[in-house]
Amino acid sequence: MNKSGSSVPLLSASNIRKVFTRKQGPLTVLENVDFSLDEGEAIAIIGTSGSGKSTLLNILGSLDWPTDGQLHHKGDFLNFRNKAVADRWRSKKVGFVFQNHMLLPDFTALDNLLLPVRRLGDVTSETHQRALGFLKNMGLADRANHLPGEMSGGEQQRIAVARAFMNRPAIVLADEPFGNLDQEIGGHLGEMLFGLRDTEGTSLVIVTHDLHLARRADRILELVEGRLKPVIKDDLV
Ligand SMILES: Nc1ncnc2c1ncn2[C@@H]1O[C@H](COP(=O)(O)OP(=O)(O)OP(=O)(O)O)[C@@H](O)[C@H]1O
Ligand SMILES: [Mg+2]
Repeated sequence: MNKSGSSVPLLSASNIRKVFTRKQGPLTVLENVDFSLDEGEAIAIIGTSGSGKSTLLNILGSLDWPTDGQLHHKGDFLNFRNKAVADRWRSKKVGFVFQNHMLLPDFTALDNLLLPVRRLGDVTSETHQRALGFLKNMGLADRANHLPGEMSGGEQQRIAVARAFMNRPAIVLADEPFGNLDQEIGGHLGEMLFGLRDTEGTSLVIVTHDLHLARRADRILELVEGRLKPVIKDDLV
């Protein structure tokens, strides 16, 4: 049984293998990875540079697909090889935060927040209010009509974090979200990200080098030689 009282995980991946074909020959990045995320759970994934963290996160979010293995959402098989299925599932169920905020430079803060909403349909007064509420809660109410270039890196990343939650996704995937920010600002944004996860009841998978941030998660997993290993928080130095 998990937090939500269900024995079926929200998202599970089994026997995931990922081999990149390159001119120099094949590169196996993931080997028999098993992963399971419960509703409302936060998992941090750590590992050295090049260990395959982004590759795994992209597979979990259907931005990439595995060479072998299967993914299930609430027990249902996810056919990521069907692009339309993958696109629809991703738009509805997954929010992303990347290291680089990936805001559209010609869109205002408010319009960037509303991008995921527009991808699924029209902006309603409810979604408009939700975006304004996020801006207010982030202390950016007066920035609604500002372009990303008129905001600091931390402010832009705050918008990117809130944007990931706009469609009430089941899962937010964050890849080294605060790696470009100084430690203090990154710390504040970490609080914001985990705060949103709590208030929205969203599951979270965060890839990070920042052990302080990783400790906020319910579980920490480490990618070593293509396999995921559980990490005991007290063993982290
Ligand atoms: N499209 C690709 N084609 C070939 N090799 C790739 C491709 N994408 C990633 N790789 C290789 O796969 C390995 C894992 O890359 P990945 O980006 O997942 O690592 P990472 O753990 O996220 O690293 P970092 O901490 O530096 O972001 C690396 O050796 C990388 O060079
Ligand atoms: Mg990476």
